[in-house]
This record gives sequence, C-alpha cells and structure tokens, in this order.
Amino acid sequence: MTASPVPADVVSLADYERHARERLPAAVWAYIAGAGADGITRRWNREAFDRLKLEGRVLADMTGADTGLDLFGQRLRAPIILAPVAFHKLAHPRGELETALAAAATGTVMTISAQSSVLIEEIAASAQGPLWFQLYMQARREDTLALVRRAEAAGCRALLVTADAPVNGVRNEEQRVGFRLPDGLEAVNLRDMPGPVLRVGPGESPVFKGLLDAAPTWRDIEWLRASTKLPLLLKGIMSCHDVRLALQSGVDGIVVSNHGGRVLDTLPATIEALPAIADEVAGKVPILLDGGVRRGTDIVKAVALGANAVMVGQPILHGLAVAGAVGLAHILNIMCAELEVAMALTGRPRLSDIDHGIFASC
Ligand SMILES: Cc1cc2nc3c(=O)[nH]c(=O)nc-3n(C[C@H](O)[C@H](O)[C@H](O)COP(=O)(O)O)c2cc1C
Repeated sequence: MTASPVPADVVSLADYERHARERLPAAVWAYIAGAGADGITRRWNREAFDRLKLEGRVLADMTGADTGLDLFGQRLRAPIILAPVAFHKLAHPRGELETALAAAATGTVMTISAQSSVLIEEIAASAQGPLWFQLYMQARREDTLALVRRAEAAGCRALLVTADAPVNGVRNEEQRVGFRLPDGLEAVNLRDMPGPVLRVGPGESPVFKGLLDAAPTWRDIEWLRASTKLPLLLKGIMSCHDVRLALQSGVDGIVVSNHGGRVLDTLPATIEALPAIADEVAGKVPILLDGGVRRGTDIVKAVALGANAVMVGQPILHGLAVAGAVGLAHILNIMCAELEVAMALTGRPRLSDIDHGIFASC
C-alpha cells in the first residue's frame, strides 16, 4: 500500500498552511502570504470571522440536508469556489493542471487567473470540471477581447473581472525579501500584451504617470458587458457606492473582496462589509465573498449575512505545495465536511435555511 502524500497531522486548513510554509522558499512564501503594507486588512479578515458568535440549535429535523446550490445555471455541490490565484507553479511543478484535477474530483468551480502559469487552453483541455476565467482589463481593448474570446472558446462558464488592483498594493513583505518570479515562470496568457506606457519624469510617480492611464473605468465594464454573453462578475467590491454602479453596468454578480488584504491596507474585513452590500444588492444578483475563509463556520456566517457562496485563495497554493491535487482535493473535502457539521449543529438543513438567526442572541 502506498503511503498518503498528506502528513498524518494535517486535518484542517491551518495545518495545510503550516506545512506549506515549511516546504516553500521564504521568498515564495512572502509572495503567497504577503499582504498590503502592514497586513492589517489580512488580519481583520480573520478576526472579523472569529468575533461572530454562532447560536447552536439542538434536535432540528435535518431530513434531506444538502449543501448544494444553483449558481449561474450550474449546480454546485457546495458554496465553495476556487478564487483566481496567479502562478500555481510557484507551489507545484504542474501548477494549474493539478488544481483543475482537484476541482474536478470534488465538483468545485475553478477560476483561472489571467496570470495563470499554464495557458487557459491547456488547463481547459485537461479539466473535467467547470471553469471560470478571471480577467484583468488590458491596456488595449483588443487584448482584453482576445482574452475573453479565448476563455469562451476554452469553455469557461463565467467571466470575473477584478477591479480592485489597477496598481499593485504596497507589498512590503515581498520587497523585504526581494521576491521575483523564478526563471521560467510567467503569466503565459499575457505574453505579447504590452502593459501601460510609463511617462515618468525625474521625481514623478509611475502610478499617476502611466499605470492608471490604462486602468479600466465603469465605461469599460459596460463595453465588456456588451461584448460577451457569459455571466460577468465584478470582483473587489467593498462599498455600496460601487454596488450601485456595478448594477447599473449590468453585471451578473459581485464578489465582495479586498483581495485577501493584498492591495489597499486598512480596508475593512469582507465579512464586515457584507451586510450593507447585501442590503444594497437586494437579491438582484448573486454575491460571492472571499478573504480569510478557512472554516465551515466561516461559510455559514457568510451565507447568513448575504453571500451565495465563498471563494478561497491562499489555501489553493497550500494544498498544492503539500500534496498537489490530492492536497487541494483534501482541503475542499475538509471545507465541505466542516460546512455540513456547522449546518447540522446550527440546525439548518439547507443553505436557504441559514439566516441572521444563526448568530448568538444571548
Ligand atoms: C498568491 C495570490 C495570487 C493572487 N492572484 C490573483 C489574481 O491573479 N487575480 C485576482 O483576481 N485575485 C488574485 N488573488 C486574490 C484572490 O483571488 C482572493 O481574492 C484572495 O486570495 C482571497 O483571500 P484568501 O487568500 O484569504 O482566501 C491572489 C491571491 C493570492 C494569495
């Protein structure tokens, strides 16, 4: 009998994180785990989940209990989706191909990052499960459109436009260790796509002199909406102001996200921003949430406050680093099993039964 590639003491996502850290070079870890500036938002993402207290319910009738849901015409086994994460080859030599295996094995949607380290087409050719594609709007519209057409041709079932990172955050943790992509690893989908032209004079900042010239605006979202029939989700929404504009632009869904705390530090935790955003959305489009989701109890809290599903980012790379596709599939199964336990102990047989009453009232 072959031994399991997963160490025996790995039973939770935190265990995967610990083991992944031991296996990966320090500079790669600084990129994967690194946050914006002082890492305050990254910390708040977790603390805010932990502060919410649940109310247990005993003796509930759990007949027909099910974690499934319908989202954009797809039936999902659980409200857990793989977030777009760049460069999976940092964690495993086969990169996104391993991720696709794990996603298919567990019936989970995989969102391919625009900055994947394997081509969209190669991932799609090997994938047996549903794929979405995350888009960064490119400096030239023709390049953006080319990416959209490639995602459509590859069979991706939704497009997710990330709007919260037109410039990199202040990534001090990476800067301190001098992280740079290892040789041979690149954003293969974006080859031959020129970035913005910098017009930086002495003492001037590239942020305002070049980088933001190419950054998308709401007009580009309307243009994109008219350019594809795929469901269009906007990722990085953290305010009611932006919800209103997103809905006016015709998006089909929003992702409440602060990019895992990697971009603008001191944004609030996503779970704190969610209730007001859900009020503003008022059921018009589905809401996804990410940022620090690590436990089944986090998922029921997000659903109670208005999310249809959650996304996980860093755990993808933790699973790959520890045991490739087996590790990531294990992570997804752990999350699903924990969700079932949380639903059972709060007496909620279906996701639609999870409401505000799930929080402790006394
Ligand atoms: C290493 C890394 C790379 C990421 N790359 C992308 C990306 O290419 N596109 C994107 O929209 N978000 C990217 N994200 C953000 C994730 O999609 C997601 O918002 C975030 O990781 C969620 O927080 P979590 O890691 O705590 O689950 C990245 C996150 C990490 C950790």
